[in-house]
Amino acid sequence: MTEFKPLVFSGVQPTGNLHLGNYLGAIRKFVALQENNDCIYCVVDMHALTAQLVHEDMATQIRSITAAFLAAGIDPEKHIVFNQSQVPQHAELAWIFNCVARIGWMNRMTQFKDKAGKDREQASLGLYAYPSLMAADILVYRATHVPVGDDQKQHLELARDIAMKFNMDFHDKIVPTGLGIDIKVGEEPVHAYFPMVEPLIDGPAPRVMSLKDGTKKMSKSDPSDLSRINLMDDQDAISKKIRKAKTDPDALPSEVDGLKGRPEADNLVGIFAALADRSKEDVLIEFGGQQFSVFKPALIDLAVNVLAPINAEMRRLMEDPGHIDAVLRDGSARARVRAEKTMNEVRDIIGFVR
Ligand code: TRP
Repeated sequence: MTEFKPLVFSGVQPTGNLHLGNYLGAIRKFVALQENNDCIYCVVDMHALTAQLVHEDMATQIRSITAAFLAAGIDPEKHIVFNQSQVPQHAELAWIFNCVARIGWMNRMTQFKDKAGKDREQASLGLYAYPSLMAADILVYRATHVPVGDDQKQHLELARDIAMKFNMDFHDKIVPTGLGIDIKVGEEPVHAYFPMVEPLIDGPAPRVMSLKDGTKKMSKSDPSDLSRINLMDDQDAISKKIRKAKTDPDALPSEVDGLKGRPEADNLVGIFAALADRSKEDVLIEFGGQQFSVFKPALIDLAVNVLAPINAEMRRLMEDPGHIDAVLRDGSARARVRAEKTMNEVRDIIGFVR
């Protein structure tokens, strides 16, 4: 059995301002992964059309996600940073995948059900096909590992289902091309052209919750700006929001078990741990028995130390959009070369004449 060459791929939508949840749940992981992996990070601008077609500030949003990638420390020369719409092979492979995926599979996607709401007839066809484009984003590079939030798990399972069906249905066409690889899926040996992608979900703060309600996810659409820390927030805003964050009257416990049933305490400890690259256990060894009046100032210091330099660098980058666009153009050109190689192989496997 051979294996696919490890390759990390992930995407972030250019809608709304990035917040601490996006940073800890995604971007910080992207930065860590680039040490030991070949990585491709994409601003998925075509996905941004699925829920809302017209965006007045599309270009600014694309640049701001790119600026966040760069400010957080992603190296666009060693790795690839680009925007989806500059690599049309994503849409092309998505069309093939629309013909691989079954309507029944799409109907089970919980994100579609949530986003489409009650009036499903009025949802765009793009929103329905969103997970198929997402599978194409990843598989057009035959990427193997995808860091995402846990809300994207179902979409990655769908990507595996699509890859599996393509591998099986085209088995007899893949074999003579010599492009397939013998892999194991569970106990099953499979001759595969597309790999079975692995989600990378864990970390001390896989879900960052609202500062106002520890049972709700931190979200860019929450009407209260106090519920989230935006990556563009300055030092004053960060400290004000943490000072005002909801807590309970008790001191912090000395063990993680003691955070059960205390969602706000759990969230703040999780944020501290993630920002400090420590475990929650370790944070509680230091702060167990302390009141929030002690813990919060420490969290403010830490958050400002980590986020202020990123914030300053993002602002600096946003003043030079020409530079950001050049980074995206360069990344897109390199991504296109890889994506076109896959598409040519897919065309050969399918039997399209070229
Ligand atoms: N659906 C992802 C999200 O909302 C964004 C995304 C699009 C993505 N394509 C992707 C993530 C490919 C990982 C890989 O978070």
